[in-house]
Amino acid sequence: MTDSPKTRVLTGITTTGTPHLGNYVGAIKPAIEASRDPNVQSFYFLADYHALIKCQDPKRVQQSRREIAATWLALGLDTDNAVFYRQSDIPEIPELTWMLSCVCAKGLMNRAHAYKAAVAENEAAGSQDADKGVTVGLFGYPVLMAADILMFNANRVPVGRDQIQHIEMARDIAGRFNHLYKGEYFTLPEAAVDENVEVLGGLDGRKMSKSYNNTIPLFVSEKKLQKLVRKIKTNSLEPGEPKDPDSCTLFQIYSAFASADDTADMRRRYAEGIGWGEAKDQVFEHLNAHLAEPRERYNALMDDPGHIEAVLQQGADRAREEAATTMTALRQAVGLGRFI
Ligand code: TRP
Repeated sequence: MTDSPKTRVLTGITTTGTPHLGNYVGAIKPAIEASRDPNVQSFYFLADYHALIKCQDPKRVQQSRREIAATWLALGLDTDNAVFYRQSDIPEIPELTWMLSCVCAKGLMNRAHAYKAAVAENEAAGSQDADKGVTVGLFGYPVLMAADILMFNANRVPVGRDQIQHIEMARDIAGRFNHLYKGEYFTLPEAAVDENVEVLGGLDGRKMSKSYNNTIPLFVSEKKLQKLVRKIKTNSLEPGEPKDPDSCTLFQIYSAFASADDTADMRRRYAEGIGWGEAKDQVFEHLNAHLAEPRERYNALMDDPGHIEAVLQQGADRAREEAATTMTALRQAVGLGRFI
């Protein structure tokens, strides 16, 4: 029997915020499920170098790293199986970033959406300097991301739509390096955008996102969760009046957590005219039942940073073992090998 090599799935989470229901439904849950597939080797990491591009508040970066790590562990990520690590524990990544920077055309970076958006904003504001507020870090962000991906020869990179361009850039950079140094050094990665994964609405009905300040954090206390669910925007229909589930954020949040049967049942109750107060109570009860256990694990983990640290160190050891071997070969390839 021959073992075909496992597909490598890799993704990073920028550590600037507190995980919310939208992150869970859109990214964390599918990633943890995918990591259970025996044909897959997953690499999941805290993109904390990326965090420094957006956030210069050390407390927030530190807190977010801890929260995100605790969240993934509390939700059942099996770290014997998935390689779970912090980007900043892998010094080989900035080393590779430099090598890639030296083959990456500046013009390619000029075309990155995030950079172009910053320039467009400056121009719209009539600024003299089109690059106002743009750091070298922001400009080179896609190269760091390419290093994350290419370091471990990932085949598939699950990302949101806004990140597809970055994966294409990683392919471009990998192809250029392979061509220049005449070898198959890097696997060309593919973006994996799951069309079935839902984009959850937030408190105000817009996409749930930290930038809109409309999130429901995953592991707030029971009381806070209830308060937030009550804040979800609904329309002014009275109890008894039929309501449309398909245009309703509250229903969408419910259905993301409920079974098909419970969802069908709630749909019927909307048609029958369930009152908003009652609907919100039901949604809260359901969410709370779903989150109570992981919330307890989360709180215990947050109180035990030593444990989180040990888990991440073990992940970093596994990642570095491979990264160090790869970098030795790459140093050789570019002419930076040892003399003997
Ligand atoms: N830039 C990604 C985001 O903001 C996070 C990220 C960093 C990432 N490095 C990565 C995602 C490598 C996938 C692969 O969502």
